[in-house]
Order: sequence, then structure tokens, then C-alpha cells
Amino acid sequence: MNLKDIYIIFGVSGCGKTTLGRELSTILNIPFYDADNFHPEPNIKKMSEGIPLEDNDRAPWLQVLADRIADWSKEKGAVLACSALKQEYRDKLQSIDHRYIKWIFLEASYETILKRLEARQGHFFKKELLVSQFDTLEQPKQGICINVEQSIEKSITQIKLKLNMSKSQLGLIGLGVMGKSLSKNILSRGFSLSVYNRQVENKEVDIAKHFVDEQPNGSHVLGFDDLSSFVNSLEEPRTIMIMVNAGKPIDLVIESILPLLSKGDCLIDGGNSHYKKTLEREQLVSRLGIHFIGTGVSGGEEGALKGPSIMPGGSKEAYMRSGKFLEAIAARDKNDNSCCTYIGPGGAGHYVKMIHNGIEYGEMQLLAEIYHFLRFYGNKTPEQISDVFESWRINRKDSFLLEITADILRKKEGEEFLIDKILDKAGQKGTGGWSTVSALEIGMPLSTISEAVMARNLSGMKSERETASEIYNLKPSIAIDDEELLNTLEKAFYATSIINHAIGFDLISQASQEYQWNLNLSEIARIWTNGCIIRGHLMEQISVLFKDSDSISLLLLPEIVEILKTDITKLTDIVSIAMRAGYSLPVMSAAANYFLTYTSKQSSANMIQAQRDYFGAHTYQRIDAPLTEYFHTNWKN
Ligand code: 6PG
Repeated sequence: MNLKDIYIIFGVSGCGKTTLGRELSTILNIPFYDADNFHPEPNIKKMSEGIPLEDNDRAPWLQVLADRIADWSKEKGAVLACSALKQEYRDKLQSIDHRYIKWIFLEASYETILKRLEARQGHFFKKELLVSQFDTLEQPKQGICINVEQSIEKSITQIKLKLNMSKSQLGLIGLGVMGKSLSKNILSRGFSLSVYNRQVENKEVDIAKHFVDEQPNGSHVLGFDDLSSFVNSLEEPRTIMIMVNAGKPIDLVIESILPLLSKGDCLIDGGNSHYKKTLEREQLVSRLGIHFIGTGVSGGEEGALKGPSIMPGGSKEAYMRSGKFLEAIAARDKNDNSCCTYIGPGGAGHYVKMIHNGIEYGEMQLLAEIYHFLRFYGNKTPEQISDVFESWRINRKDSFLLEITADILRKKEGEEFLIDKILDKAGQKGTGGWSTVSALEIGMPLSTISEAVMARNLSGMKSERETASEIYNLKPSIAIDDEELLNTLEKAFYATSIINHAIGFDLISQASQEYQWNLNLSEIARIWTNGCIIRGHLMEQISVLFKDSDSISLLLLPEIVEILKTDITKLTDIVSIAMRAGYSLPVMSAAANYFLTYTSKQSSANMIQAQRDYFGAHTYQRIDAPLTEYFHTNWKN
């Protein structure tokens, strides 16, 4: 015989069994029964007098209910509200095949229930019985658990999702800053969503559960810390977005989720992954018939929440399956079209995001340099510079980065500007550097972007910059007539050559430490003094200079300091004269910039740190606090 489902909603008195049960029965269009109405007369009398029921009082009552459950399941099915506090009571009610009874336990704290009972009137249950209810309650072994400290509507959604009466359209793994914001975005567009976050003792505890609790009424969201239940809660074929840190964490997630997936499911990596890794991952999962999309998601926390720009790459088939979700959650352009489009196969999406970030590096550095120049050369206050930037915004040059930089410059702590307090060492996560590597691999120029990356790298050499700044103590001069121009050019050439060599040797020296190669710089210089393309007088000198001190940068050796102390101003003169005349000198100006930054105590990287903190909460260190401490500011207040 075909049995119908019986939904038994159970928990202590006052937890909302009747209200929720009635609501569920209306939605399912099946009858609702309250187990209290099946108590024999003596039990009702006892309860109204505040006398707790004994187990032998309950036995006939439970038997009646068990019989009725068997009858109801042969009819339309039913929703039954029943306290069923002990496991043995539940066992007695289980009068039919266990698959047809859906146990729904309503969970709430003693304090919550007490408050509810105090507010409630006209019910025969006395609140004094509550203590005995909680004492009797045995945690259920079967069914689902619903926290009733949320709205009825939300509880119903949870019941439907948990009992697989409806499955989520989308899954999201990783509730960090971006994952949370993207999840809220997905929910706000009306999609049903399952979220998963791992449990890490004392670090990531009940993240998914808390996220669900924080969502507004009516949100179709389920939280999991168990990957298998998370996967089971999703509509097939499944679409799962992975929002964990790029690198190993992505591989770990893929490794653990793959055995749980079915052919046709689609994984979307929304982090800043390297495009070559994305291609490898796609090849790995596609062997199992699973789709893989590697997508750039840009816009920081606010963008993820309100609508980011999305750059998905992977197979066309994968995009046809899951692209609609991405298009729906993306920002809109001025014609109301989605700021998400299929980019191309394999790692194309992540490649495009990488170059996006490269441009971002360049724009940020550009603004940082202008701020720095105006602050120290122009002697302007941060507020005055902010006014300059604001005037550019009005003058049809507005951009997000210009806007936030103007904001940053107005931020004060007491009487002082916060920008002056931020350590000028810029952080980075890799995308700018990857862009540079890619440009080198395919033989394309990437001057501003790679210069911006190098500016960040150089900003990191804070103490060496301080030393160099003291050693050189530069006072710039300006060259004017023709004869002087030629003399100046010769010296500028030599200065550039020294700097160029120094940069190369510094990299070798650094790589030697990094990979523990124990390289001998003097020997390398020596074997380059003849036969090779870069042989010459300078190389002869370098091999000698490095003989005794090859662990120190060329630019800090006294003989080199002697030369550059005078010649560097010739280099800067040439660069400025050339630029004023409209000629570019990429290597010379890059060398001049390198040297001037290398010898500056205070760089512009404090601004980069402020910008990163403003839009991405990447935090910064302070000059007036221990370097082990990281700070975050709410820049808008
Ligand atoms: C974006 C940003 C974002 C992130 C940067 C930070 O497009 O929303 O680029 O992805 O904030 O990757 O990069 P760095 O830490 O390298 O500055």
C-alpha cells in the first residue's frame, strides 16, 4: 500500500509546534493534529494543576497517537505537533515504516521558551513545568533540527530545504569576506542557496550556521559544515561556486568535493587563481564529466555584494549551464546589460582578471606617485591634494580609485592625517607579477604595470632605502646648454648602466638565498668579463668589487656611491629634459625612478596600503605601532 508522509514536529512546550505545524499543513495541504488533543481527561487535569505527567500516564496517549499515525498515513498524510521529549516516546510513535515519518525537532534555549510562555495566555500548561520539560528532553537521534529563534517563514524554508522538499539552485563554498558578500548578492536576486564553510577549531566555528541566522526573513538559504549534505542539498545538475583563497585551498576543496559530484555538475572558481592552474584544474575535473569555470570577480567586498564585474572562462558548455547565475548577480552597465560575459576557453577568464589587476596596480601607483610628489615636492597637505583630486573628478576624469584616494587623503585621526601614519611598504598577492611574467613569456611590453609591481617590491626594502637615502643625501640640479647636455648624457648613460647591472645582480643574489643555491657573484661577474654580450669595463670593475663583499648590493658599495652621488643628477636631468622635449627614455627613466625610490626614506606605499585597506580590508601596519600589529579603518566614517 502507498503510504503518505507524517510530519511530527516535536520539542518542549512553548517552542512553537502548533504554529509551525499549522503553517506547514497549510502549505502541504494535509491535515494538522495537535497531540495535546489526544490526551485522556486525567492527563489534562494533572497538567492544568501543574503536576508533571508520569510515563505510565503517557503510555495510553502514545498508543492512541501511534494508531492514528498509522491511519493518517493511509489517508492524506498529516502534520502532528507532539512534545515527544524522550527517545522511547518517539520509538512508540514510529508505528509505520520509518521512511514515512519526518521528524522535525524544534530547538530553542530555556530562556527563549520561558519568555514565550510568560507572554502566552489561556493555555493550560503552567510555565513551572518548563524545567521538568527540559530535564526530560533527550536530544533526538533522527530527523532534522530547526532553530526556532527565527521567523516562522524562515523555519518553513529550512524545513522544506532540509527535507529535500525543495533543493537549492546554487551552492557556495567559503564564507570569507568575498564569499559572504557574494552569497548575500545571490540571495537578494531571489535564488535559493546552500552555503558551506569548513569548521576550524577556535578559528572558523559555525560560520555557515551564523551566516544563515543573519539573513533576512524569506531568504532561501541553508548552511552546512558537512560537504556531503551540502552537495545533497543542491538541484541537479549542480552549480557550485568556490570562494576560497587562490592556490592550495582551491585544490583541497576540489579534491574533497569531486567524489561527491555527478556528471554534468559545474564547479566555479571565483578566486584570483593563476590562469595556468585553472587550465590544469579544468582538465582534471573534465575527465570525470564535470564542468569547470575559472572566473575573475572584481569589485572588492562592496562589488561582490551589490554586483561585481565577472569574467568567466571555461568550456562554452559549462557557461551555457551555469553562466546565467553569474550574469544575474553581476553589475549592470548603463544600458542595463550584465557586466558578465563569456570570456573564452580554459584559463581565459582568470587571465583577463589578472590583466585587470595589472591595470589596477598601474592606476594605484599613478595616484600614489602624484600624491607623493605634491605632498613632498609641492609641500601640500593631504587635504589640499584631496581637493586637487576632487577637482579632477568633476573635470570628467572620475574613477573609483580617484574617488577613494581623495577620500583617504581627508581621513584624520585627531588632528593628524592617517595617511601620514601608514607604513610605506606595499603588499601584493601576485596578480601584478603574474602579468609581468606573462608579458615576458609572450614578448609584449608591460612597462607601467611591471613598473608598478616593481615599485611595490622596492617599497618593501624599507630599511635599505633609509640607508641609501642617508648615504646619498641628494640635491637635484638642472642641466641647460648643449655642451653640458652631452657631458650629462655620458654620465647618465654610465649611471643607468650601473643601476641596470645592480638590479640584475640583486635578483641573482635574492634567488640564491631563496633557493639556497649559494651563488658566487664575483665569479659570475668574472666569467662575464669576456666572450659574452655584456662584457666590458664595468663588468671588470664589478668582479673586483664583489670579490670581498658580494653579499651587499652594488649600489651600497663605496666606489659606486662615489660615482652615483654626482652622476645620478645627470641622469634625472636627462630624463626630464628628454621628456619635456617629447622623447621617451624607458630604461633611463625606469633606472632614474628605481634609484630615486631606492634612495628615498619615505615612499608612496603608505597610500597603496590605505587604498587596499579601503576597498578590500587588506589591513596596514603603522609607524607608531609594533609591526606585528595590523590595522583596519572604516574609511567612510
Ligand atoms: C578586484 C581586486 C581584488 C583584490 C586584489 C588585491 O578586482 O576586486 O583586484 O581582486 O583586492 O587582488 O590585490 P593585491 O593584494 O595584490 O594588491
